Amino acid sequence: MDIRVFPTNELLNAAAAGLVAHLLHAKPKAVLGLATGSTPVGIYEELVKLYAKQHIRFREATSFNLDEYVGLPETHEQSYHAYMQQHLFAHIDLPAEQANIPNGNTADLAQECLRYNALLEHAKQIDLQLLGLGHNGHIGFNEPNHALVAGTHIVELREETRIANARYFNSLAEVPTHAVTMGIGTILKAKSILLVVRGTEKAHIVHEALTGPITTENPASLLQTHPNLIVMLDAEAGALFK
Ligand code: PGA
Repeated sequence: MDIRVFPTNELLNAAAAGLVAHLLHAKPKAVLGLATGSTPVGIYEELVKLYAKQHIRFREATSFNLDEYVGLPETHEQSYHAYMQQHLFAHIDLPAEQANIPNGNTADLAQECLRYNALLEHAKQIDLQLLGLGHNGHIGFNEPNHALVAGTHIVELREETRIANARYFNSLAEVPTHAVTMGIGTILKAKSILLVVRGTEKAHIVHEALTGPITTENPASLLQTHPNLIVMLDAEAGALFK
């Protein structure tokens, strides 16, 4: 495990984007695992800058997003489809048909999980999976539970997750109750994983995840088992690592 604590978010963003750029240079057909939420925004900004300066291109790459809310149309401004357009896809040359996001707005969600799993299996392996961390230890939307699911599945969001995400909606009632998420097995199958965590309020959970017991009640703790895990923390999130 490679844990790096950065004095500023600018340095963290540059380092994380640099890792993606390095992969794209070495392997233009790379398979990228992408995340949403506030954590990756600055990293996507850096990637867009690198693309604008023609330092990187995405034309041959493929991407898989971790998750999507159930019941929000793609055009809803809080859907992760809209998020990805806003922060990354609208600004780069990744062909739309190579950018995969689960569809949470379909009548047959079970079929959608099978479809997404099949796409992931066809891609064989994600080269670099970007992850944020939930306040309760979730990765993707794999919420703390007595058991975790390996493949893409529907998950009921925990109340604390809905409350954390309510800041993006007009009210808590508007936050979807369910999501489609890539499973923990798929995440752990990635060749390398980049976990990014920011802020004082996550200092304890990231420390517990990486140094405490491996438990499904803190899904990120399973990352301890991954052979190629890179962790990038801002100074606040990294405060408990000496
Ligand atoms: P955040 O969310 O980046 O908005 O803090 C992370 C997560 O819930 O996975």
